[in-house]
Amino acid sequence: MHPLTNENAWKAAQKVIAGGVNSPSRRFDAVGGGTPVFIDHGEGAYLYDVEGQAYIDYLAAYGPVILGHGDPRITRAVAQAAAGGTVIGTPTPQETRFAQRLREAIPSMEQLRLVNTGTEAMMSAVRVARAYTGRDWIVKFAGSYHGHFDWVLVQAGSGPSTIGQPDSAGVPPSVGQLVATLPFNDADSLAAFFERYPNRVAAVLVEPIVGNFGMVMPQPGFLEAVSTLSHQAGALVIYDEVITGFRFRYGAAQDWLGVRPDLTALGKIIGGGLPIGAYGGSKAIMAQLAPLGGSYQAGTFAGNPVSVAAGLACLDALQDRQGYLRVDRLAQRLTTGLQKEAELAGEPVTINRIGGAFTLYFGEGPITDYASAQRSDGERFARFFQGMLRRGIHLAPSKYEAWFVSMAHTDHEIDTTLQAAHETFREMHR
Ligand SMILES: Cc1ncc(COP(=O)(O)O)c(C=O)c1O
Repeated sequence: MHPLTNENAWKAAQKVIAGGVNSPSRRFDAVGGGTPVFIDHGEGAYLYDVEGQAYIDYLAAYGPVILGHGDPRITRAVAQAAAGGTVIGTPTPQETRFAQRLREAIPSMEQLRLVNTGTEAMMSAVRVARAYTGRDWIVKFAGSYHGHFDWVLVQAGSGPSTIGQPDSAGVPPSVGQLVATLPFNDADSLAAFFERYPNRVAAVLVEPIVGNFGMVMPQPGFLEAVSTLSHQAGALVIYDEVITGFRFRYGAAQDWLGVRPDLTALGKIIGGGLPIGAYGGSKAIMAQLAPLGGSYQAGTFAGNPVSVAAGLACLDALQDRQGYLRVDRLAQRLTTGLQKEAELAGEPVTINRIGGAFTLYFGEGPITDYASAQRSDGERFARFFQGMLRRGIHLAPSKYEAWFVSMAHTDHEIDTTLQAAHETFREMHR
């Protein structure tokens, strides 16, 4: 028997798992290739690979791990719920309690449904919006990721107001004819689109704060314009808060930013690290759903008791405002330090930080939309990523992803990360 190493774990995975990974972003193709680290377990702010190497984790599983890995409040709740049955298939009072908690935190979600992933939440929100409006078209913003269902795997076209083309093999070309992709933070192109195609659009899908071409804030007035223009055109606005929900404060970004969508999709954090999604809006819209209405959505695992228990435990923990304040302070220290280290090394970088989430782009800013994020230097990022990984810092293997500081990080991990960045920037300039 060979000892378990990252290398032989990777070889074994590639034999039985397509591409060796269960989600494509886990491969290292975008950062110069190489063997991904195979994780044995996580604890607090750390991950430990199968060879026993420790990493300070900023991937946070692409967002859900806000409390840190293996938080005892979550593991207790999970164990307790699992002992009572891991899936029930009939209603439970805990689902209602969880839905009540979400509605209290996000008033625009007057009624909601629990599903299993962010993809499902967005897919179902799009369907109910189409049922409510009786229209087929949707508008999304370039570079935003809303999950892997057909309608949203459509990339930016060659310019504003271009009807997109499907981006993934296996998505019928006819799908792209119903989806328009416009630039984020550009209300004029949305206005022009509605002028050209009135009365066609069911919904405009928007991440109110973008997390998928790095962290990007909406410019002042953009979200308000999206609402006004969409409503004038009879379209609904769907906020994808799968990343932003409970990220910066208890509740969603919409209340923090003072804007109210017609439908909201949640996922990631709200499950306390277990698979979950939720979508909801006004009673009138949600009344479209079967069996009261004609729009069908269902799920064997929807409202899963273990996910709901973990979600409730997570929401309890997040009610402590101090946690968010600490994460904010640590992320501010970290980004200030990274900026300084980059400057000392003569490396031009741009950092977009919102609370405990930020993206370090290689190149000059500002980064306000997908086009500017695309211009950032992927090769410089790849070298930085590999240098940091060798020094025990675990980042997402893509220049478009965020770093997430969790509530388990402390000043010690920030110091260690800054020392690693100091050495990595220097190494890049040798
Ligand atoms: C904004 C956004 N929406 C939806 C999704 C899809 O969520 P899931 O991976 O749980 O299906 C993601 C996943 O990264 C996301 O970032």
